[in-house]
Amino acid sequence: MIRARVQPPHVVNIEDLRRVAKRRLPRVVFDYIDGGAEAELTLRANCSAFEAVTFRPRCAVATSACDLGTTVLDTSLSMPLILAPVGSSRLFYPRGEEVAARAAGAAGIAYTLSTLSGCSLEDVAAAAKGPIWYQLYLVGGRDCALSAIARARATGYSALVVTIDTPVAGSRERDIRNGVKELSTRKFVSMLPFVDQFLTKPRWLARFLADGGLMKFPNVVVRGEGPMLYADVGTALEQSMVSWDDLRWIRDAWNLPIVVKGVHTGDDARRAVDAGANALVVSNHGGRQLDGVAPTLRVLPEVLASVGDRIEVLIDGGIRRGSDIAKALCIGARAVMVGRAYAYGLGAAGGAGVARAIEILRNDLIRTLKLLGCASTAALDRSFVDVPPDWLRSTRQVRAKRAPRAGRSSPRLLESSLKPKGDVI
Ligand SMILES: Cc1cc2nc3c(=O)[nH]c(=O)nc-3n(C[C@H](O)[C@H](O)[C@H](O)COP(=O)(O)O)c2cc1C
Repeated sequence: MIRARVQPPHVVNIEDLRRVAKRRLPRVVFDYIDGGAEAELTLRANCSAFEAVTFRPRCAVATSACDLGTTVLDTSLSMPLILAPVGSSRLFYPRGEEVAARAAGAAGIAYTLSTLSGCSLEDVAAAAKGPIWYQLYLVGGRDCALSAIARARATGYSALVVTIDTPVAGSRERDIRNGVKELSTRKFVSMLPFVDQFLTKPRWLARFLADGGLMKFPNVVVRGEGPMLYADVGTALEQSMVSWDDLRWIRDAWNLPIVVKGVHTGDDARRAVDAGANALVVSNHGGRQLDGVAPTLRVLPEVLASVGDRIEVLIDGGIRRGSDIAKALCIGARAVMVGRAYAYGLGAAGGAGVARAIEILRNDLIRTLKLLGCASTAALDRSFVDVPPDWLRSTRQVRAKRAPRAGRSSPRLLESSLKPKGDVI
C-alpha cells in the first residue's frame, strides 16, 4: 500500500516525492529537509545551475544497453550515486537511517550515515547490505569522535566523510519560525506554541511515538554521560567545527579512505589533498550553510582543474534528475551524492520511497545516456555538454597558477575532460 503511494502516475519524478513528503510530514520536519540558509539563494542556485549546462547529443547512435557501473574509492557501485549524510533522518520515518541504508544497499549504491543520526552505527551497519560510509562531526569533542571512529571501523564502514563547512550552523529561517529550538527543549511550556504542527499529522505522530519519540544521538556518546540528547541541529553544529589541524589526528585514527566534504574552491581542494584526503565532495551542504556561495556545479570545473588528476572528485547539491547526474559526470565528477532527493522519498514512504527515488534517478540516467548516444557513464565527457564560458575562466587561472606536479592519476583525468572538444566554449 505504502509502495503504491510512490509509484506512477502519482510519483513520476523527485518533485512528486517532495509533494508526497510535504503532505505526510509535520511542517517543522518537512521544512527541515526542504529549507536552506537565509534567503535560500544558494539552495535555489544549486538546482538552476544544472539548467545552464546543455547537452550535445550524438543522434542515430544505437545504445541498447547502458552500463552505469563505476567504482568510487575502489568500491563498486551499480551507478555513480551515493546517498549523502542527512542528519535526524529518524524524524522522517521510523528507524529512518536503517531504512535508507537498506534501500541503498539493495540498489547497489553506498549510504553515508551522519554523526547526527537517530540510529546507531551498529544498527545501520547490520541493516545495510551494501557499502556504508560514516560522516564525522566533532560534536561532543575529540574523545567522542575517536570512539565513533573506532566503532565505524569495527562495524565495516569503508570511508570516513569529514564535513568541513560547519564552523557554525547556517541560519535556517524556516527552522526558527517552526520552533525547532523550542521543540527540542522537551519543556512543555516552550513547546506548546508549536505543537499544532504535529496534531494535524496524526499518522506521522503515532509512528514517531511508537519509534520512541524524540531520539538521542547514539553515535555521540559523551564519556560519563551516554548518548547526547537530541538538540536542534543548529545547536549541535555549533560544536562541530573541523579545522585542517583536526584532519591530522583524524587521518592518524582512520587508516581507510577519507572523503572531505564541503569544498567550495580550488584552493581548499588542494588543502584537502595535502591533508591526506582520498576523495572530496564539492558541496555547500545543499545551501544550508553560507547563503550566497556559488552553486556547486559552477565550482566543479575549478576544483577539477585544481586537483582532478590527484583525487576522486564528487559533487552534491541540487541533483533532482538523472540528467543532472549526467551533466556532473560530463564535466568530470566521478560520482554524485544526493541528500533531499532521497530524504523526500524517506519522508513520503520510508524504504519504498528511498527505493523509488533511486529508481527514478537510475531510469532518468539510462534514458539520458540513450538520448545522448552514449553507452556508459564512464564514456561521458565534456564533448556531451556546453558549459557557460565564464565557468571555465577560473579553471584557466587555476591551471596557470598551478605548478606542474606528478601525482596520483585519476581514472577521469581532468585536464582531458576540461579540454574543449569541438567548439563548445
Ligand atoms: C535534512 C538534511 C540534513 C543534512 N544533514 C547533514 C549532516 O548531518 N551532515 C552533512 O555533512 N551534511 C548534511 N546535509 C547535507 C547533505 O549531506 C548534502 O550535502 C546536501 O543535501 C546536498 O544537496 P541536495 O539536498 O540538494 O542533494 C544535510 C542535508 C539535508 C537536506
